[in-house]
Amino acid sequence: MTKYFVTTPIYYVNDKPHLGHAYTTLCADVLARWHKQKEEEVFFLTGTDEHGAKVQESAIQADLEPLVFANQNAEQFKNAWSNLNISYDYFIRTSDSNHESVVKELLQKIFDNGYIYQDKYEGLYCVGCEKFLQEDDLVNGKCPLHPNAEPIQQKETNYFFKLSAFSDKLLQALDNKDYIIVPETRKNEVVGKIIKGLQDISISRVGVSWGVAVPWDKSQTIYVWVDALINYYSATKFTHQGKGFWPANLHLMAKDILWFHAVIWPALLMAADLPLPGTIAAHGFFTIDGQKMSKSLGNVIDPNDLVKEFGVEAARYLIMAEVPFVSDGDVSLSRFRQRYQSDLANGLGNTFSRVTNMMERYFSDYKFEPYSEEIINKNLNLSLTKEKIINSINNFRFNDALDYIMTETRRIDREIEERKPWQLAKESKLLDVKLLLSNWVSILIMISGLLEPFMPETSKKIINVFKAEKIVKSEPLFPRLDKK
Ligand code: MSP
Repeated sequence: MTKYFVTTPIYYVNDKPHLGHAYTTLCADVLARWHKQKEEEVFFLTGTDEHGAKVQESAIQADLEPLVFANQNAEQFKNAWSNLNISYDYFIRTSDSNHESVVKELLQKIFDNGYIYQDKYEGLYCVGCEKFLQEDDLVNGKCPLHPNAEPIQQKETNYFFKLSAFSDKLLQALDNKDYIIVPETRKNEVVGKIIKGLQDISISRVGVSWGVAVPWDKSQTIYVWVDALINYYSATKFTHQGKGFWPANLHLMAKDILWFHAVIWPALLMAADLPLPGTIAAHGFFTIDGQKMSKSLGNVIDPNDLVKEFGVEAARYLIMAEVPFVSDGDVSLSRFRQRYQSDLANGLGNTFSRVTNMMERYFSDYKFEPYSEEIINKNLNLSLTKEKIINSINNFRFNDALDYIMTETRRIDREIEERKPWQLAKESKLLDVKLLLSNWVSILIMISGLLEPFMPETSKKIINVFKAEKIVKSEPLFPRLDKK
């Protein structure tokens, strides 16, 4: 059986999930379901990133022990993913002791391989990003992603990872396509930065007690990013579901953390003699009025609110349809409402009820030839559309895939208006009506198959209606907002 291992970032547990987190997680869910549909053996991993200064500080502010604080917030992520019907196989928390053991083992291995040494570090640190800032990272002296926070001056004796030793190896690996960075434009940015030169990075902290102790020096904890990245590997070591799954096929994330995944992570793996992941794919930011949606800016949309307003299936659809994977996209509740009405209530839902209504009316006893690949292959337009949708999903163009699907439902609607089956029925041209309906049913069944990873329940409902002995008009799939 072909294996498919897909991951989301593990989210900082200082925050509640917002639409940005939901988007990455849904992309992973769609791909996990897509590969399950192809009968592959899938391992879908998500979780929470719990150590480090940022979580430690938030716990102090909440007046809680870090672990108690983390327990509460990890639960919020699990709840949100359950509300969105996310089909993850394992939820990892970096405070899990079995994860911590693997982190120690791996760091020891890298140390034994000669890639870790001790040195002094002095520089600016952004707690929000949990990262040292270089001069050219700064905008007006601040981290561009955390403009409301002052970077802190840090001066410590730390352990360092010899990242500089991996420039050529990383470039070579990218050249050989040992691993791939998507999209190409971001790959080129990463390559450009590697060519400019890699500096060694500090990978331990003296002042942060909330973390995994450095195995050979208990006075330091392991830098939160190293601890976090290793989750992808550790989950394949100690979970039953993950056994034998390393290397990952796909790490998904937004562009903010591409560097960690596309440069630091592969270098750590090389240093530990482990195979590299297949693809590292970074999407753009969800923005509100042009600004990145984030807790620190306070401009978030809660995915649970979308589920409450539109239902889980529609919420999944809206989040995936609204923005292209590669670019930033502005989102707003009013645009989600508009899209719900146009694509779902008046679109797919309405088309489906019109078709099932006519089936009930004219052919309640008639059994249509069930959808088959043959019907599709005979219909050039349909097979081309199917190709386009499959291609889009395989290339992270989820919004395009959904757009093609909606174009098909609009095409059915237009044909209904043009061919006026009720007129044909009045003229007793039932054979014509039958042919039209059978074509529309095929299209609907085809698109509901392709919709399955996005809207699993809707897809099931549509297919079940057409599979039934007797087709009856269905309840509206997506009630109009004014009627809700
Ligand atoms: N804990 C690290 C990741 C460690 S992975 C080994 C982290 N966590 S985070 O909570 O800040 O999550 C960042 C990720 O959340 C982004 O890469 C992206 O997947 C998602 N998003 C957070 N805000 C987002 C937007 N405004 N827009 C799109 N995705 C966003 O970084």
